[in-house]
Amino acid sequence: MRAEDPRPILLKDYAPPAFLIEDVRLEIDLDPATTRVRATLKMRRNPDAPRGPLILNGQKLALHEVAIDGEMLSGNAYQTDSEHLTIPDAPDGAFTLEILTSCGPEANTQLLGLYLSSGIYCTQCEAEGFRRITYYLDRPDVMAVFTTRIIADQKFAPVLLSNGNLTASGKLPGNKHFAEWHDPFPKPSYLFALVAGDLAHVEDKFVTQSGREVTLRIFVERGNEDRCAYAMEALKRSMRWDEEVFGREYDLDIFMIVAVSAFNMGAMENKGLNVFNDKYILARPDTATDADYAAIEAIIAHEYFHNWTGNRITCRDWFQLCLKEGLTVFRDQEFTADMRSRAVKRISDVRLLRSHQFPEDQGPLAHPVRPDSYIEINNFYTATVYEKGAELVRMIHTLAGPKRFRKGMDIYFERHDGEAATVENFLDALADGAKLDLTQFRRWYSQAGTPEVLVSGRYDTARQTYTLKISQVCAATPGQKLKEPYHIPIAVGLVGPDGKDMALQLDDEEKAKGTTRVLNLTERTQTFRFHNVEEKPVPSLLRGFTAPVTLSANLKERDWVFLMTHDSDPFNRWEASQRYASGLLISLVEALQAGTRLRKGEAFAEMTRKLLADKKLDPDFVAQMIQLPGEQTIAQLIRENVDVDAIHEAREHLRLSIAGAIKDELLAAYRRQRIEGPYSPDASHAGRRALRNICLSYLAILPGSDGVALAARHFAEADNMTDQIAALGVLVNIDCPEREEALAAFYDQWKDDHLVMDKWLAIQATSSLPGTLDNVNRLLRHPAFTIRNPNKVRALITSFATANQVRFHAADGAGYALVADKVLELDSLNPQVAARLLGAFKSWRQFAPKRRALMSKQLARIAGVEGISRDVFEIATKTLA
Ligand code: TRP
Ligand code: ZN
Repeated sequence: MRAEDPRPILLKDYAPPAFLIEDVRLEIDLDPATTRVRATLKMRRNPDAPRGPLILNGQKLALHEVAIDGEMLSGNAYQTDSEHLTIPDAPDGAFTLEILTSCGPEANTQLLGLYLSSGIYCTQCEAEGFRRITYYLDRPDVMAVFTTRIIADQKFAPVLLSNGNLTASGKLPGNKHFAEWHDPFPKPSYLFALVAGDLAHVEDKFVTQSGREVTLRIFVERGNEDRCAYAMEALKRSMRWDEEVFGREYDLDIFMIVAVSAFNMGAMENKGLNVFNDKYILARPDTATDADYAAIEAIIAHEYFHNWTGNRITCRDWFQLCLKEGLTVFRDQEFTADMRSRAVKRISDVRLLRSHQFPEDQGPLAHPVRPDSYIEINNFYTATVYEKGAELVRMIHTLAGPKRFRKGMDIYFERHDGEAATVENFLDALADGAKLDLTQFRRWYSQAGTPEVLVSGRYDTARQTYTLKISQVCAATPGQKLKEPYHIPIAVGLVGPDGKDMALQLDDEEKAKGTTRVLNLTERTQTFRFHNVEEKPVPSLLRGFTAPVTLSANLKERDWVFLMTHDSDPFNRWEASQRYASGLLISLVEALQAGTRLRKGEAFAEMTRKLLADKKLDPDFVAQMIQLPGEQTIAQLIRENVDVDAIHEAREHLRLSIAGAIKDELLAAYRRQRIEGPYSPDASHAGRRALRNICLSYLAILPGSDGVALAARHFAEADNMTDQIAALGVLVNIDCPEREEALAAFYDQWKDDHLVMDKWLAIQATSSLPGTLDNVNRLLRHPAFTIRNPNKVRALITSFATANQVRFHAADGAGYALVADKVLELDSLNPQVAARLLGAFKSWRQFAPKRRALMSKQLARIAGVEGISRDVFEIATKTLA
């Protein structure tokens, strides 16, 4: 047991700050061991808050001086503890507080606050990192204008960057120099950024819709200038798109992005100075995959869009995190849908939601999109806040339609620009602008859990009606036993026996109109009746996935086969293929457990055959259709006493039987989808590669050595990373000499490229071969790995723990022990990353008893360690609870 458990922070305890800060001047004298920071804060009491002491946040700071209005405070005029600086008797009128502190960027392994990574000074202040730079009111509802003067060694750090516009720079004695930056937009401290180092940059410009010219710069380590072009293009497209779709223009004269190699998350939207994990900037055809290009485009857009949804309008407190994150994810999803294939984007977003958010929402870490309690806020940058948060915005968009949604957004920007807002502010603006009643809808923000929607459809031949009886339930989640019904928009269509959509006419409608209707489910049970339905249809339910729910309907296997061939809604067509395939896989798992005959899945092979022959279909969409649900998806659907080995075997059996049944067609498609000419990362080429590489993955497993030879040739002939890694990904699961040769050749080719080496680590960590655990242990000691770099941890350890179900869940518990050991080792270096890795245990209750016991043993071991971080403590104890 711990001496003192950390106390949770509660939404209901929110109180406005006792003091406000209007203006901040920072003078930061950079040094690896001791960086001196002089902060000059123009402050006053908050007229809207009760009178109280001045309590500033601060962590790991050495305090040298405190002065008020130029007068040094004596030691008894203030107190400090490990997290605060308290001044009991601050003046009543406006005053200037001056604080001199120092911190040590070189020793900062947590990568929060100011740190030094590969010779570059860099900051990460969200959520509560600024307090590691200076004492401050480190909360998002305190917004100030920042001026930052950076002083550094000229040689070590020729480039000095901060938010806003450069206002002065010059030489200083002792080989030093300085730069001064001014950001005219008041902002909370979490958006502060500083970067200094020997960086190269590429430059471009953008002319806004009102004709202002903006300088665009991407800063990278020297030598990487040739990998920035795609990120720059994506940035310009994002800027244009936000003008066209949301009417939002950029507001400073310069927009800068810096790519760094040690970063806790994907990227950060600091005002005018985004900082990125370099994995989401650097791309060249030979080093980055199509998926990397797509992620770069999406994250560039995401951070850029934060300038309005996050920065100009920020969050009142961290409970409102979804206000900026859910909304901004929705915006980046729409951007990608417009840049690429809308259908494929929707499919991949729903895949992500189901694989990451649903397990969270259905497990011990379930929390509302707006949580009401947390121990460590860094643990709440979750799939629920981000991805489900985006789904909630999407539902409002569905309910309002694009025009009225835009009106609502305009009102939101008009009302709250320059403010720290709440979810209520957002919903009020949308309700007013879009003319919607969102009263019941609000429950989505406060109730955790994935609602289950049950549908039963009935055709009445005599009356020619089709009736849908729809009900909803939501299981209990931690701290929430009973749930009130949600407002759930459900888009439906009726598909006739000819495969065509029928015109729809509901009870209260005079005539039929359209073929897709959004039904509003607001009660626990409701019926919806369609008229003039001349033949018995198959219902196509939840088209486009209009709500983040699970759906069960009285549909049979043959209905899914029908829909996967005919549904006009591409999302539901894909959904039908996955429903059919997962039903089949579950029956195979049961057959394996019972020792009965295994079905072959002819209908899936048949569908694949037809899709491969259909030249009109988008190859990227076909690739989505013919891909079987993953092993974790099947585990989630089974949900109890999950048998990971049977799932693996069932899926391999099905893959093999499909490959065997349509070998010729797979080979023909493999040949047809080969692209001649230079590589382009655009969606049409990427889609063809995706389809071709899936064909390869089927062909490679066929008995005999043909398949392996094909994969080895694919590897050798690849002229881009997508094809090269696809071939390696196939070979890594087959025990053959070609596997070892390809891994060695890949290493030789790319050993000096840290981002490509991450792929080499990850692909081995996800191999389903029995030697994988030993190999991961070997790789942990390989020079390509270091536990101090989060990307390396994610590549090797997180991939193993979250993307290799059979090996992580090895029956002897060795996989669990390895990951738990690494969580503990990491905890003393970087608790944020350690806690995230521990998330791999969140679904422990769904496994068979032996594994359940082994997993809970590791969780208990971690929770019991004295001095464990708040981050890991919170995840371990909540997961066990
Ligand atoms: N706000 C970032 C985003 O765009 C998330 C983020 C980046 C973050 N770095 C972080 C959150 C460090 C917490 C800690 O989504
Ligand atoms: Zn974000």
